[in-house]
Amino acid sequence: MAEIVIVASPAAAGVLVASEIVRLIESRPDAVLGLATGSTPLPVYEALRARIGGLDVSHVRGFALDEYVGIDPSHPQSYRSVITKEVVEPLGLDPDLIHTPNGAFATIEHAGEDYERAIAEAGGIDLQILGIGTSGHIGFNEPGSSFGSRTRVKTLIEQTRKDNARFFDSIDDVPMHCITQGLGTILKARHLFLLAFGEGKAAAVAGAVEGPVTSSLPGSAIQLHPHVTVVVDEAAASQLQYADYYRYAFANKPAWQGL
Ligand code: F6R
Repeated sequence: MAEIVIVASPAAAGVLVASEIVRLIESRPDAVLGLATGSTPLPVYEALRARIGGLDVSHVRGFALDEYVGIDPSHPQSYRSVITKEVVEPLGLDPDLIHTPNGAFATIEHAGEDYERAIAEAGGIDLQILGIGTSGHIGFNEPGSSFGSRTRVKTLIEQTRKDNARFFDSIDDVPMHCITQGLGTILKARHLFLLAFGEGKAAAVAGAVEGPVTSSLPGSAIQLHPHVTVVVDEAAASQLQYADYYRYAFANKPAWQGL
């Protein structure tokens, strides 16, 4: 089972996950990070910024989870731009070592395979940061995604386009298609951190953690992974049946186990 950590605030979650990333980079300077976009991981990137001084991050590598199809990389809402603005520049990472799937129409037919090859050549992802959509998606693996899926083009469901319209001028500007790491790709990362904040995520979190393992709720794929840490605030934890047990288990966890 995933370890569930219920924290007081998104900022506290950020500090927790950032500490783990710092530990990883200290032990492995060319660590491979799996980077999520959207609002959820921002407290992690913010906390990392505060922690990173003095650490050599010049060899850190990274792979974004997903990208919109047909959006120019220079568009402010392309995930390439978002990762550059939120992660690469503030943390001083080498942009050449940070990858996003290529959403250009011209090469889209083999962009998924190209991305899988790049991840494999990097030796796989050490630590994957994940958010979860209200549809239960992780990456942009919408309901019905295969647990064996690899990086490929998907069609966003209407709910996700509505959710993401806040980043664009209108919902009509939100691309219809995306290219995303598959559930099978995500499950190969060595350590998954799934984060969620706010009541709007409570049903998706409960489904992913305690519900049946089903492609109808793609986040439930995490139940198949041997090393998952779910970090949620009280609101996102509010529909978890065993929340008290998770609190008790974490409070009494042997220190040597780490996260
Ligand atoms: C982003 C991603 C998505 C988001 C999810 C939640 O790279 O893959 O799965 O994590 O849509 O989005 P936010 O964090 O904006 O609520």
